[in-house]
Amino acid sequence: MFQRFELENWQSAYEQTVRFNLADSTLEPVRLGELLDDPGDLDELLGTALYYPEVNGERALREVIAGLYPDVGADDVLVTVGASEANAAVVDVLCGPGDDVIVMQPGYQQVWGLATNNGCNVREFPLDPDDGWRPDLDALESLAGTTTKLIYVCNPNNPSGYVLTEEEIARIVAIAERYGAWILADEVYQGSERAARKHAATFVGRYDKVIGVNSMSKTYGLSGLRIGWAIARPDMIEQLWRRHEYAVIATGRIDNALARLALSEPRRGGLLKRNREAMNRGWDVLRAWAADNADVVTVHEPEATGLAFVRYHLELSSVEVGHAIREGASVLVCPGVFFGIEGHLRINFGFGVDYVRAALAATTPVLQGLAGR
Ligand SMILES: Cc1ncc(COP(=O)(O)O)c(C=O)c1O
Repeated sequence: MFQRFELENWQSAYEQTVRFNLADSTLEPVRLGELLDDPGDLDELLGTALYYPEVNGERALREVIAGLYPDVGADDVLVTVGASEANAAVVDVLCGPGDDVIVMQPGYQQVWGLATNNGCNVREFPLDPDDGWRPDLDALESLAGTTTKLIYVCNPNNPSGYVLTEEEIARIVAIAERYGAWILADEVYQGSERAARKHAATFVGRYDKVIGVNSMSKTYGLSGLRIGWAIARPDMIEQLWRRHEYAVIATGRIDNALARLALSEPRRGGLLKRNREAMNRGWDVLRAWAADNADVVTVHEPEATGLAFVRYHLELSSVEVGHAIREGASVLVCPGVFFGIEGHLRINFGFGVDYVRAALAATTPVLQGLAGR
């Protein structure tokens, strides 16, 4: 039976019919004019010939991306249609029928679903909701073995915002290395740490079987560019590239050019600052709302991302609560079950304080009503 991508399915089914969309996983999007604030850049763009870019991504963009990592060159980078395409290509290369795959839970279910659809044996190692979403690496240790093909980690984690410590990264790498398993490190929320106090380190370069994936969508607020990338050793890049040719041929030339502009300093630093400030303002609103509604919800402060994974104290499934909020308040939030865990809702707080405040205010009477108040 085909495993649908329930999270994306939920969003595409309802996001166009609600007044407030807090189901999104990005930040308030950057406008084109904000990126093209230098007239020279605009002129260059207007002169662009709209032919296919290099199939593996424009060299100038790959060079800028490579510069974000230690000891990575432009040829170690494949530019993809978002992190989604990169993740899908990795599963296509590595995960066949009967293969053992281990994923983080709760987590973004793309790899879980694709591997399941490929007939893999997919198991989960948990992040502990009662321990600030710390990963249970003893569980990973006991699940891993010589047959493990791939370990998928999302760092910082969507939906909890948990950032792995150096020790945790080292232990995950050691477990993978012991069994020769690949690590797919989905790092799309890197740079979205709300405080500089805990920086999400990359897995790239720690072991030769690491594939690092990232994109313009989350931390940079540029999901409309549809640009992502994979970083890996040359033989893996080669295999991913062969899938990329089948699936999409290439990304967009304008998208390549805009991504290069966004990732070049000082613009990149400016975007990260803009987005960090937006997340911090939004978190204050979310935290105050959760405190006012402490009888129905609890939330552990996310270390990164503009996402709160809110626990609710109701005897209802997360889909039931999600529908009630959608129908009663015209607000879309994401049911926790779509990340593999019940009793939670993922709520975006990165979309501008007035918007978030109004959406949460509309949600309050629905939640209080469900609690019988
Ligand atoms: C953890 C994670 N990985 C990958 C993606 C895919 O994003 P994109 O294809 O826009 O880069 C998402 C989007 O929600 C995500 O949350």
